[in-house]
This record gives sequence, C-alpha cells and structure tokens, in this order.
Amino acid sequence: MFFSKPIDAVISERKSIRTYKDLAIPKKDKSAIKDFMSGDMQTPFNSEIRFEIIETAELDRDQLRSLGTYGMINGAKNFIAGTVKKDSTPDGKISIAAEKFVDYGFALEKIILYLTDAGFGTCWLGGTFNKAGFAKKINVADNEMIPAVTPFGYEGARRALVDRIIRGVARSNHRRQWSESFFNGNFATPLSIEEASVYAKPLEMVSIAPSASNKQPWRMLKDKNTKLFHLFLQRTKNYPKIPFGVDMQMIDIGIAMCHFELTCRELAIEGHWQKLKSAEVLAGISTPLSGADISYVATWVA
Ligand SMILES: Cc1cc2nc3c(=O)[nH]c(=O)nc-3n(C[C@H](O)[C@H](O)[C@H](O)COP(=O)(O)O)c2cc1C
Repeated sequence: MFFSKPIDAVISERKSIRTYKDLAIPKKDKSAIKDFMSGDMQTPFNSEIRFEIIETAELDRDQLRSLGTYGMINGAKNFIAGTVKKDSTPDGKISIAAEKFVDYGFALEKIILYLTDAGFGTCWLGGTFNKAGFAKKINVADNEMIPAVTPFGYEGARRALVDRIIRGVARSNHRRQWSESFFNGNFATPLSIEEASVYAKPLEMVSIAPSASNKQPWRMLKDKNTKLFHLFLQRTKNYPKIPFGVDMQMIDIGIAMCHFELTCRELAIEGHWQKLKSAEVLAGISTPLSGADISYVATWVA
C-alpha cells in the first residue's frame, strides 16, 4: 500500500490536532500530497470529488480570518478542501445524495491517513470553518460544495486552551464499547472478538475512527449465514441531521468504511462494498434496535 508502516499503526497514530507550529512545509512534501490526491481515489459509490491544497500567505491574518477557523485552529497555514457535486431534482431543487458524503468521508480520511503517515497533524472540520472563504480559494462552481476541510502541518508543542476544551467536551480520548457498535446476526446480540475472527482488526480500526462530535454513529452487523458485514448509520438523537447542508454523520460512515477497507486490504481479506436491497437486509434481522433512528448504508461482501 501507500503507507510506510502498517495501516493499524497509522490509524492509531491519528488524532485531531488544533495547534500547529509556525513552520513552512517543504515544496516536495506538498507536491507528494498533490500526487497522492490525484492518484487512486476510488470510493465506495464512485462519486466525483476533487481536492486541492489551500495555502494562506505567511502571517496573513485577514486571509486566515476569512477561512473562519481562526481561534479554533491555531497556527495552521495549509488546508485541504474538496468538493462534491450537487444534484438538481426535476423540480429545480438542489439536494446532495447521502452517498456523496459517504464517499467524501472515505476519500478525505484516506488523505488524512497519508498525511499522518508523512508526519503531519490534521483535524476534520465540518462546522467550524467559513464555507464561502474556502469556496473562493478553490473556485468552487455553482454546482459544487465543500462538505468539510482539514488543516495540516506540524503539531504544536503545547495544546492551545481551546484545543483542550474541545477535546474535553467531545471526550475525544474515549470511544464506545465494542458491544455498542458491533453485532452478530441481530442488534440484540453483541459480536464477540472471537466471532469477529479475521475481522476483529478491521472492526477495531473502525472503532477508533474520528467522527463529528465523537458520536461514532456506525453500527456493523455480521450476517448469520454468510460472509456479509452490514453497515448502518444510527443517527444521534437531537443531533442536527444536516447542519449547514452537510450530512455530517454520513461523512463519519465514509470514514469508518475507509478504516475497515484499508485494514482488510492489508490483511489480504478480499471483499468489496455493495448496497444490497435494504428491505432484504432488514428482513434478515430479527430484532431491530427499537426506537433508534437507524438506516442501512452498505454491506461488505467477502
Ligand atoms: C465529519 C467530522 C467533522 C468534524 N468537525 C469538527 C469541527 O468543526 N471542529 C472541531 O474542532 N473538530 C471537528 N471534528 C473532530 C472531532 O471532534 C474528533 O474527530 C473527535 O472528537 C475524536 O477525536 P480525535 O480525532 O482526536 O480522535 C470533526 C470530525 C469529523 C469526523
């Protein structure tokens, strides 16, 4: 693969960095990042996504202010932003298919892992940035939008106060118990690590993925009879479904798929993502999570 160390080491190393050193990034590193972003960026649902590096001039505080991350993200001068295409419905309304946010999550997380491996800090930003400021920087067309961005750079020596506060509020160092996220045959039966078998590692890598407000909305269910792993989104109660027109929790799902797939590839576990007929998938699950807002996304078909 394209990483210098095992993928589980790269995934484990990544954490959100909100404080950066005031150090320039060598040109050769930036061009390697550009090459990576224009390389194999295949996503589960094949959406068209383009990524660009945004560089803000040294000490140009106005430029940083216009990006709206000032205060939240300290010291970063380089960002990566990407776009997805909007869909227009027959009645002229604009919408964006959920799959595009999934694909965006998948693709930007792959870039973030590449940056982590190359020694850079990153931080997913879905809410705390100025969309218009970024859009201007990368000439976003009318039929495009930027769902989320990341700064990248060298981690600062000491975390800024705001960084520590955000980590505390989101409980960023904590993750759900395995039994809350992974199930065997139905949602009443947690999947044991033994039953997960070769998938224990890919699932562990899902469990430590980053997510908006650290809500970890992914649920995976091992099908009883076959080598199928179904992936679901359990929406967080009272969490705004689509703040700023972006389906943040679908981005989280794409990040989970990225971790799962990259780990499977490294372990030579063959398979691919496929969207099955959701009615048939749900019919096979005897005890749905009652009252939970849970929807089927896709299945890993081994
Ligand atoms: C889609 C998405 C959007 C996010 N948006 C923000 C944001 O706007 N501001 C912020 O400070 N952190 C944001 N985060 C970072 C999460 O708070 C962080 O990933 C989570 O708390 C887990 O911490 P960790 O990344 O250090 O493991 C976002 C993460 C994701 C995946």
